[in-house]
Amino acid sequence: MPILEAIDIIKQYKQYDTVVNAVNRASFKAEDGEFVAIIGASGSGKSTLLHICAGLDKPNYGTVKIRGTDITKLNPDQLGRFRGQFTGMVFQKHNLIPQLTALENILIPTIMCDRPAFSYEEHIKKLIKTLRLEDRLHHLPSELSGGQQQRVAIARAMINRPQVLFCDEPTGNLDRKNADEVLELLLDTKAVIGQTLIMVTHDMSIADRADKIYMMDDGQLYLFKDKQGFYRNSFAEEMKRAKKMNEYVITADSRPDA
Ligand SMILES: Nc1ncnc2c1ncn2[C@@H]1O[C@H](COP(=O)(O)OP(=O)(O)O)[C@@H](O)[C@H]1O
Ligand SMILES: [Mg+2]
Repeated sequence: MPILEAIDIIKQYKQYDTVVNAVNRASFKAEDGEFVAIIGASGSGKSTLLHICAGLDKPNYGTVKIRGTDITKLNPDQLGRFRGQFTGMVFQKHNLIPQLTALENILIPTIMCDRPAFSYEEHIKKLIKTLRLEDRLHHLPSELSGGQQQRVAIARAMINRPQVLFCDEPTGNLDRKNADEVLELLLDTKAVIGQTLIMVTHDMSIADRADKIYMMDDGQLYLFKDKQGFYRNSFAEEMKRAKKMNEYVITADSRPDA
């Protein structure tokens, strides 16, 4: 059974008398421990889909199953508990609380969740060490660099040891060096804690590290690449498309027909 399954998701927004199909019958799956990247142009519906999968928003139609539970059917209390226990979210703009220190921010989810069945102390120490935040714990977000703020947000998202971690362009506001560093730390932490990573990104060099890449195009979601290679259009078209998004280097052995 996949750990996450989004089936036929539709989300519409009404603006005056027009309807925007932000997500239009999108379906995808993630297996336990997989790193799934979702790419696509700005406005194509990536954040809307991610928020629905994370239980932060309701679809007009469709279901989201996490560990076999249809989260679209949970009441707000049940959903809050479920999210706290099994999922974490890293937002594009970290959303740290400015009046709280880094450590206090990191610990927020532990207050809002039933005590999970593991030793917090060990886990917290490991997380803080992996994310190299030891020296910054008692600083306010305004006293941290962009990369450090994003690392605090990642620690906060991982504090309850979520089985599924959702990230919405977690490196979107960072320069190349910091973006690469945050990705390495995410993957290291993923290796340490072992969870499923669902990441929206516009950065092809980051998406290329994923087990599977989906592409969102005007609300519709396509499998773009997996271990077998590229899908949807001809190889040449995919390359043109990918190149337009980023300078993406496609190696000969990643071609399905190579
Ligand atoms: N709360 C909202 N109200 C109305 N329209 C929205 C809302 N959120 C998103 N949209 C629209 O839905 C589409 C998809 O948005 P979004 O999911 O944020 O795209 P992406 O994350 O790919 O940039 C866009 O056309 C956007 O303007
Ligand atoms: Mg977005």
